[in-house]
Amino acid sequence: MEIDAVRSSYRRWAPVYDATFGAITGVGRRRAVEHINRRSGSVLEVGVGTGLSLPNYRSHLKVTGVDYSAEMLAKARERVMDQGLDHVVGLREMDARALDFPDGTFDTVVAMYLVSVVPEPEKVVAEMARVCRPGGEVVVLNHFARDEGTVARLERGLAPFADKIGWHSDFSMERVLGCRALEVVEKRTAPPFGLFTLLRFEKRAHADA
Ligand SMILES: C[S@@+](CC[C@H](N)C(=O)[O-])C[C@H]1O[C@@H](n2cnc3c(N)ncnc32)[C@H](O)[C@@H]1O
Repeated sequence: MEIDAVRSSYRRWAPVYDATFGAITGVGRRRAVEHINRRSGSVLEVGVGTGLSLPNYRSHLKVTGVDYSAEMLAKARERVMDQGLDHVVGLREMDARALDFPDGTFDTVVAMYLVSVVPEPEKVVAEMARVCRPGGEVVVLNHFARDEGTVARLERGLAPFADKIGWHSDFSMERVLGCRALEVVEKRTAPPFGLFTLLRFEKRAHADA
């Protein structure tokens, strides 16, 4: 998906996202944030969207969110204001392929339902690893392509419409496993119906991305 398609697709999604895709994916999102809440320090959420996750972070964390879509971010800003979410310390418009933060800035870096949307997901994962401190954690929650079965056929059928629907339905997990700076520490399925996977990585102490 090209970056212009991301912008136009999420401009269309922004008004209806929370009641549609956002609602279906709520349980998985809460599961990922529950895990992060057991950690401490700073969190970067890449592709924060309308900020559906933001009320679920506990107040001991300092959360920064970035997204490429101004319309999705505007919704996130509204949510932070309306709910007085003081643990959200920044929301910035930014391309996940070039994160404007120094190396090792965050204790935890998370991307939920993002990697199958962005152009150049490998570059995004490398950037997430770069801005995570050594020994910190990178968390990826996403749907990944199945090899067989009804869901796999549906994924392949939807694949040509990526620019219209806003994500790649047949996205392979291999594309996020290649970053040498990251070691997989957990891989588990997430609801609904085990359609999603939660991947946790530790940033190696000494490694180039
Ligand atoms: C499916 S939504 C997920 C939003 C949010 N993480 C959630 O859990 O609801 C994907 C988000 O990724 C954002 N996105 C896509 N490409 C991006 C990029 N290159 N840089 C930053 N954000 C991007 C979109 O604007 C959109 O808000």
